[in-house]
Amino acid sequence: MNLRKKAIYLLLAWSLLVGCNQGEKAKLTFAVGGAPNELVYWEKVIGEFERQSNIRVEMLRKPSNTDDQRQSLIISLKAGMSDPDVFLMDVAWVGLFADADWLEPLGGDFDPTPFFQTVIQSVDTVNGKLIALPVYMDGGVLYYRKDLLKQAGLYGPPKTWGELLASANKVQEQMRTTNPNFYGFVWTGAQYEGLITVFMEFAGSKGGFIRDGSGIHLTSPENQSALSFMHDLIWKDKISPPNTYTTMREEEVRTYFQEGKALYERNWPYAWSLHEAEDSKVRGKTGVAPVPGPQKTTSASTLGGFHIGVSVFSDMKGAAKEFVRFVTSFAAQKEMVLTLGWNPGRQDLYRDEEVLKKAPHLQELTTVFQNSRPRPLVPYYSQISAIAQKQINAVLADKITPQMGLAEADREIEALLSRYQLR
Ligand code: GLC
Repeated sequence: MNLRKKAIYLLLAWSLLVGCNQGEKAKLTFAVGGAPNELVYWEKVIGEFERQSNIRVEMLRKPSNTDDQRQSLIISLKAGMSDPDVFLMDVAWVGLFADADWLEPLGGDFDPTPFFQTVIQSVDTVNGKLIALPVYMDGGVLYYRKDLLKQAGLYGPPKTWGELLASANKVQEQMRTTNPNFYGFVWTGAQYEGLITVFMEFAGSKGGFIRDGSGIHLTSPENQSALSFMHDLIWKDKISPPNTYTTMREEEVRTYFQEGKALYERNWPYAWSLHEAEDSKVRGKTGVAPVPGPQKTTSASTLGGFHIGVSVFSDMKGAAKEFVRFVTSFAAQKEMVLTLGWNPGRQDLYRDEEVLKKAPHLQELTTVFQNSRPRPLVPYYSQISAIAQKQINAVLADKITPQMGLAEADREIEALLSRYQLR
């Protein structure tokens, strides 16, 4: 090719490129993870937003496990990348993101009054600035098979862990004659954040992370008996399967129960609409109740949920805020309850007649998470959680005793706090 021809080709290629860029609208990137049906819902929200706003959005699909989601976002944010522009965050890591200055303040024209005020104040407002909004609230709940309890002559779900054990033993024994893989109780015992959320519930309102002047620690009688109980469910009572501590996360637990192979399941409200889906084996047979406690009066579910925020590195902050406004609007949140059965972050939806008719479980769940307990709201929570996860999981794997696990967790937490001079 001669030089002239080469120059013409180059010119052509360049003008094509420029032409494309001018014609193409910039794309907003939105990072979100979750079960398959959740991602389908987000596709729908994005489609509606694109129609109304003329802003194009690309969904960056993240894993459903909260720890993996956090890791993947941290990689982009630490590198100061402009994508994703906007993302969902677990309530457990909003503090970490805010402390790292990764969240763009939403600004005064956002009205947080329709949302749960305790959550807005404790999680989403930092130094007087609104940095995120709650999309949905989670609280741990107990799913149970109404039909199997009735068959066994038991009425109503258990209120204490002791009652749960007794009833699960009875039903499991009966069910095993025809269903050898049947277990009394499935819960999230794998080494990840979900383990901490159930551990707090096994320990009840007097257990969990103890915060005092000297820092945060775990050694306490309530925590020790919770750990023994959890260990024994797998090893002694054998009402929870051996893979509880290796593979059981939300989706594994949910599908196990949904296949009709368990009496009780500890999970979050998202599982409700899936259990009630047409292809579910437990459709119409499932009840939902508050999680039991060590005693009736000490039952406390763990506060969960996801919040939406804008990256401080985004190069489309205006559009990202429009998306936040849309996702947290009355209409989009109503659609979310009606399709997914999730508890919206907006309180005004709990008074909506159509919502209450289609999702009657919402009313019961409202009290569940109004009384639910947050994990420690400290920026270094994820590091403390990682320490606790490792020790608690080792107890469940029968490698160490509850006492050893709690003591080792306290030693490591103490070392972490002194290393970074945190209290
Ligand atoms: C749910 C909760 C979240 C929690 C996670 C643990 O997604 O909403 O807050 O950290 O489960 O697995």
